[in-house]
Amino acid sequence: MTLISLTDLSANVQLPDGKLLTTVDRVNLEIEEGHSYSIMGRSGSGKTSLISIIGMLNMRVEGGYHYHGRNVRDLSDRERAKLRADKIGFVFQNYSLIAHMRVWENVALPLMYAKSVPRTELRPRALEALEEVGLAKRAHDYPSRLSGGEQQRVAIARALVSDPELMICDEPTGALDRSTGDRVMETLLTLISEKSVTLVMVTHDREIARMCENQLVMDVGRVRHV
Ligand SMILES: Nc1ncnc2c1ncn2[C@@H]1O[C@H](COP(=O)(O)OP(=O)(O)OP(=O)(O)O)[C@@H](O)[C@H]1O
Ligand SMILES: [Mg+2]
Repeated sequence: MTLISLTDLSANVQLPDGKLLTTVDRVNLEIEEGHSYSIMGRSGSGKTSLISIIGMLNMRVEGGYHYHGRNVRDLSDRERAKLRADKIGFVFQNYSLIAHMRVWENVALPLMYAKSVPRTELRPRALEALEEVGLAKRAHDYPSRLSGGEQQRVAIARALVSDPELMICDEPTGALDRSTGDRVMETLLTLISEKSVTLVMVTHDREIARMCENQLVMDVGRVRHV
């Protein structure tokens, strides 16, 4: 089943001198449910721009974006925000954990926005997600007490806590050394395959890209399959 269908999708940004720069250029792409996709490409080729659109963070686009057959561009901001909170988990390069919140509180955050989760469920659900990434013991620590790899595993737990169907990652191992990055990837790939989550992941690392079933490359806004 097709989860996402992009048809002639383009986006541009206005530069300070008023000129338009095309960041995503007539992209046609089908993303199948439960499959994994990596996106490589040199710096500035439009990878983050593309996944921001796929993640519905930016909708100033031309062309078609259908999610489960629904035209995402027809949704109101509110409907789109709800769809995003219910269905999509995000992991970024810099973990983006909130320093003054404990690990479990960071993981529980999406539950406060997604679906209607009773307050009493927050902690058990967060602990369950932390258990899955092997970090239940660190639930009451603050993020700064954890290593980079551990912080990224917390970010993965946070992305998965609301049972998303799509996981979007932007260079999830970009700040980690080789072996830590590989272990984080192993955790990520195991969990998304167990839960049949669709994965779209930007990476600069060829070996990590190859761990995904489908490999895409971006080049000045255009996407091609490897
Ligand atoms: N808000 C913005 N204003 C101006 N230019 C932008 C903006 N967002 C992106 N760009 C430009 O659009 C192009 C694509 O950027 P994007 O961040 O998508 O690249 P990327 O492939 O993710 O690069 P990297 O590998 O360095 O993260 C770049 O030339 C970038 O400078
Ligand atoms: Mg980027």
